Amino acid sequence: MEDPWHRAKEALGRWAAQQIQDVRILGIGSGSTVSAFIQALARYRQEVPMPLTITAASHASEEQARQLGLDVVPLESLEHVDLAVDGADAVDAHGALIKGGGAALVRERLVIAAARHTMILVDSSKVMNAFKRVRLPIAIIPFGWRQTLSRLNGLGVGTASLRRKGEGPVVTDDGLYIADLAIGNIAVPDMLHHELKRIDGVVDTGLFLDYPTAIWVSDGLTVWRHNE
Ligand code: A5P
Repeated sequence: MEDPWHRAKEALGRWAAQQIQDVRILGIGSGSTVSAFIQALARYRQEVPMPLTITAASHASEEQARQLGLDVVPLESLEHVDLAVDGADAVDAHGALIKGGGAALVRERLVIAAARHTMILVDSSKVMNAFKRVRLPIAIIPFGWRQTLSRLNGLGVGTASLRRKGEGPVVTDDGLYIADLAIGNIAVPDMLHHELKRIDGVVDTGLFLDYPTAIWVSDGLTVWRHNE
């Protein structure tokens, strides 16, 4: 089935590709919006050649960028990243993000944390006032996952379930599992993030807060900056 938001993702991809003229080292996240960006970037660079080194937050993004002729290096070989470009699953009125729908949240955070600035690209269906009735991805250690899930459920903030693909669990590029926590209302995202990180077995949560980030939104017709 065709993604109803593919036009918005393509518009964002094209728009973002044109914004990175002064960028030499670019971090890219993962997901379908980032994939549209990689396509547009490769096309744009054929028209306007520029020296560009890329580091990618997932094997899938890395593979796609390489196949399109872009130069990809591992994050640890770089001193810094000028700009990170990524997608998100949800954005609240304060610019807090939920990420991890594609299970790449741990590497995405590391790329964003290394970047001087971050550009987040989202279609307008993902923008909400506050995080209500959301699914928060949490990366967990496979060993003892059942017990970690019980600890997550014991917090009493939502219902945690192991993300599966077919018969088995989804396994991230770092060999982790993903627990999805269905939550009715995230009142204070920062508090929840730290509460979850204290749970044994939890590696990271999909709550991304307080990074120097500009969020760009599209409905497929135009692109605008979130909350401006
Ligand atoms: C991947 O783990 C995520 O953080 C993605 O950035 C997020 O799920 C958005 O994906 P789409 O661009 O496919 O909607």
